[in-house]
Amino acid sequence: MALFDKNKTTLRVDERLTHIAFILDGNGRWAKKRGLPREFGHTEGAKTFKRIVRYCGDIGIKVVTVYAFSTENWSRPKNEVDRIISLLGEYIKGAEDELEENKIRYTFLGDKSVFTPEMAERMRRLEEISAHYELRLNIALNYGSRAEIVRAAAELAASGEPITEETLSSHLYTAGCPDPDLIVRTANERRLSNFLLWQAAYSELYFTPTLWPDMQPSDVDEAVADFYARERRYGGVVGK
Ligand code: FPP
Repeated sequence: MALFDKNKTTLRVDERLTHIAFILDGNGRWAKKRGLPREFGHTEGAKTFKRIVRYCGDIGIKVVTVYAFSTENWSRPKNEVDRIISLLGEYIKGAEDELEENKIRYTFLGDKSVFTPEMAERMRRLEEISAHYELRLNIALNYGSRAEIVRAAAELAASGEPITEETLSSHLYTAGCPDPDLIVRTANERRLSNFLLWQAAYSELYFTPTLWPDMQPSDVDEAVADFYARERRYGGVVGK
């Protein structure tokens, strides 16, 4: 059972659901359905992203992670890549301006060095100046999970630390973050696509046909209700 307040209107999650991750999918299809160029789907998707992050904070989620741009996404047509990067650039700039209002702690997962020095610096700065806020938003940008694990393994080997699950985790981009309890993928695709492969070991997966730009708070409620109806056993047995 999901948790509703006494008036049975507002959903509140508890400590069982700390971290939700989203794989944004369906922007292109959303635009195509309307006879629009794919870029329009990304513009709408960026608005949805802000709405959904705000809603997750409202219901008590502590960590939100979004897969915004993978290392494979660079192979898309140049005008599409340009639009996505420009939306991200605008978002990052706006996030700094609205920091006090939104009270979000930002972390970027992925290799920043491929972005312009100005954009990479903005990301670093935003991480620094937002570090004291509680609601954590991880934005995976130029991110690939296998590359993240290889990088962490190389850092760990060079550090001379003992090799354990904990030390390896501490070299991932998500260091210090709890693993996702729930991963939501939109637009009817049912795979992880190189996203949080290590961190997803015990995550519950939820797939919805809703295209990302159409995602509403009520779709998040459905995913949350589905999550609470499941029994998480972490490889053990329950009730024995
Ligand atoms: C997936 O839909 C979407 C992406 C790969 C890009 C997501 C980027 C944004 C929403 C832009 C800005 C983001 C932020 C965080 C401000 P798709 O294009 O793969 O859709 P399709 O499968 O229908 O073609």
